[in-house]
Amino acid sequence: MPYNFDEVVDRSQNYAAKFEEAELHYGTNQVIPLWIADMDFRTAPCVVEAIKERADQGIFGYTWRTPRYFESIAAWQQKRNGWLPEINKMAFAPGVVPAMRMVLNMFTQPGDKIIIQQPVYHPFADVVENTGRTLVVSPLKRDEDGYYTMDLEDFEAKARDGAKYFILCNPHNPVGRVWTPEELKAVGGLCVRYGVKILSDEIHSDLMLNGRKHTCMASVSPDIAAVTTTFIAPSKTFNLAGLQSSTIIFDTEGRKDQYVAELKRMDIARNNCFSLVATMAAYEKGEAWLEELQVYLADNMRFIYDFCREHLPELKPNLPEATYLNWIDARGLGLDDEALHRFCVDKAGVAFGKGTDFGAGGSGFLRLNAACPRSTIEKALTQLEKAIRAR
Ligand SMILES: Cc1ncc(COP(=O)(O)O)c(C=O)c1O
Repeated sequence: MPYNFDEVVDRSQNYAAKFEEAELHYGTNQVIPLWIADMDFRTAPCVVEAIKERADQGIFGYTWRTPRYFESIAAWQQKRNGWLPEINKMAFAPGVVPAMRMVLNMFTQPGDKIIIQQPVYHPFADVVENTGRTLVVSPLKRDEDGYYTMDLEDFEAKARDGAKYFILCNPHNPVGRVWTPEELKAVGGLCVRYGVKILSDEIHSDLMLNGRKHTCMASVSPDIAAVTTTFIAPSKTFNLAGLQSSTIIFDTEGRKDQYVAELKRMDIARNNCFSLVATMAAYEKGEAWLEELQVYLADNMRFIYDFCREHLPELKPNLPEATYLNWIDARGLGLDDEALHRFCVDKAGVAFGKGTDFGAGGSGFLRLNAACPRSTIEKALTQLEKAIRAR
């Protein structure tokens, strides 16, 4: 393996939200931070080189995207997922979440019903509520083995009831599902039938584990493509969230044009000079690095699973099909949510994502960010084991 994902990089001095912001959410930053979704690994060397080369020029003026930028993104999608997005429907966004908010603001009305499937990435509920739209939750179903599926009967009832948009998490954060083409066809078909448009958040789609394949919602059928707007980014894949650049692939060129006009009015239509070169370098030269990362992450997930089976039977982690996020059923500890949260922080010294943040179905769960060296995970789980045994 030419890339060393075991290396422990000290991030405590680099203005990392994971450390600095922990104080705000956990009351301390003296914890092992396994919460916010970025990685403790250095990005691919090709990305670092591109940024260094750009920095060496010493000129950081206004940028302009040449055709190479969107071409590199489209080519990556085609190569990795077999879907070639149309460049004339692609637009820049400073982030997936702000872009979703803009899309809802521009193409829906206050009070419109928007469906999400909880437990899910909590800003989905926030963007709906903060824009004055009506949140409609169609909860995922969980079987006794902890495997999640969509509740299509419930979804249909809600789609039929006048919903305007559905925000899909594909693959799903936090439950780690890679939706199959059949599942996507079924839920997408309901959207087409009832006139519900789809926002497909595919930000984690490069992080497939154990050889699984991602299916882009917009590639499932022409009918579904006609109502689907897709959000992608190199930020999770290559650990570039701090560079703030994402891509939206709109359902129609007309809506793309309206969105871009609004970006220009707000004067936020340009990439910063580093995200521009980093994105192209990642998509053009980063594949070998990503493939090693995927193996390391899958091994981390197996490590967590085996560790808990052996030492922490009160915790039931999943084996996610994608993402670097592990969704742990901690109800075996018999604590209410506040007590569980405080116990992890105060007694074990570990900051997990709180299950309740993800909405319905999150109570009693923890989200563990496994994008860190295995030694960090081992330390966190060992601290947790010690704290549990000392109860
Ligand atoms: C499903 C999902 N969408 C979007 C984001 C954030 O995207 P951005 O930083 O581009 O707004 C995250 C980050 O964790 C995520 O998990």
